[in-house]
Amino acid sequence: MPSEAAAAAHALTATTLDELETPALLVDADILETNLHEMQQLASDAGVTLRPHWKTHKCVEIARRQIELGAVGGTVAKAGEAEVFLAAGFDDVLIATPVVDPRKIERLIEARGRASLTVLVESEEGRRRWAAAASGAQRAVPVLLEVDVGMHRTGVPPAEGALLLAQEIASTPGLELRGVMTHAGHAYAAASPAEIAEIGRAEGELLVKTAETIRAAGIDCPVVSVGSTPTVRHSSRVPGVTEIRPGNYVFHDGIQVDLGVVPAPRCALTVLATVTARPAPDRVVLDAGAKTLTTDRGASGRLGLGRVHAGEELVVKLSEEHGIMRVDPDASYRVGDRVRIVPNHACVTVNLHDHLYVAREARIEAVWGVAARGRVA
Ligand SMILES: Cc1ncc(COP(=O)(O)O)c(C=O)c1O
Repeated sequence: MPSEAAAAAHALTATTLDELETPALLVDADILETNLHEMQQLASDAGVTLRPHWKTHKCVEIARRQIELGAVGGTVAKAGEAEVFLAAGFDDVLIATPVVDPRKIERLIEARGRASLTVLVESEEGRRRWAAAASGAQRAVPVLLEVDVGMHRTGVPPAEGALLLAQEIASTPGLELRGVMTHAGHAYAAASPAEIAEIGRAEGELLVKTAETIRAAGIDCPVVSVGSTPTVRHSSRVPGVTEIRPGNYVFHDGIQVDLGVVPAPRCALTVLATVTARPAPDRVVLDAGAKTLTTDRGASGRLGLGRVHAGEELVVKLSEEHGIMRVDPDASYRVGDRVRIVPNHACVTVNLHDHLYVAREARIEAVWGVAARGRVA
């Protein structure tokens, strides 16, 4: 067997953390389950459906578990991700970014088969492009109109500002306006939990108001879909919201802890790394660099580039394949030691890895493929 294949085979058959070659991406099985159950409960308590964002894990096994626990379907960011999950048999998928390339649109209409594939429209040009492809399709294409509630990324303005495009979509043959959606990603720059709560409330209220404006014009608008992990506790409680789409909650990460969304022990994802050098008493070098951890620093500047699991030390510098931790000169790190690092941003980290090693304490219980890894088109 070529050595690369041998290494891969070894990684897939390792049964304990000690046997794993590093760096490797670990998922704590118990924390994952806690996170999945908690969000499903939150959705049930609020009387909304859960359509989790699958771009966080890109993993068929986790998506299946979410559906088993009660999720109505999933959300993806990209056409390529949609294709992976549709091919795996999921039958209710929302693509929550504007897809405007006519080739991708054609492909998606083909790939959906008998599944429900809902798409997002937020511009007149986007509407025209979906209309052109949908006119020849056997079934209407369900559409959500994206509304900007303050993130200022994509989306039409709320309330009256959304009406014209809503009317256009609703009167387009081949398209079926299913409702409105938004994502309050600006909550990631909030300075306090109180500010997150305020952003979450506004997210729900502005979107409900938009749906009411559309309905007042005589147009059906059943779906009112909000969601991000920081705001979902607040937005889901706004009367009139029907659906939430959090993604990051399956793992949580350094950014969620820094925002005060969860305490550190709720982070399910860690990178297992090896100390490869200690060239100075205050400097420990790991075999996990930017290609393993990502360079995401979060908005606050407090996070460094990752934090030791159950510890305080930060990764302070990354090159491609090296992570440098600043440590107390008396700390006991030695070459060959294993360290677990909580990544700052789980969603981007997962996309750098082929496998998730599902661990319960020191045992590896399963190895799951990151099936939609690299599907960024
Ligand atoms: C459109 C959309 N919906 C939902 C989410 C999920 O947000 P989070 O990962 O904070 O839970 C995202 C995240 O980027 C998003 O862009």
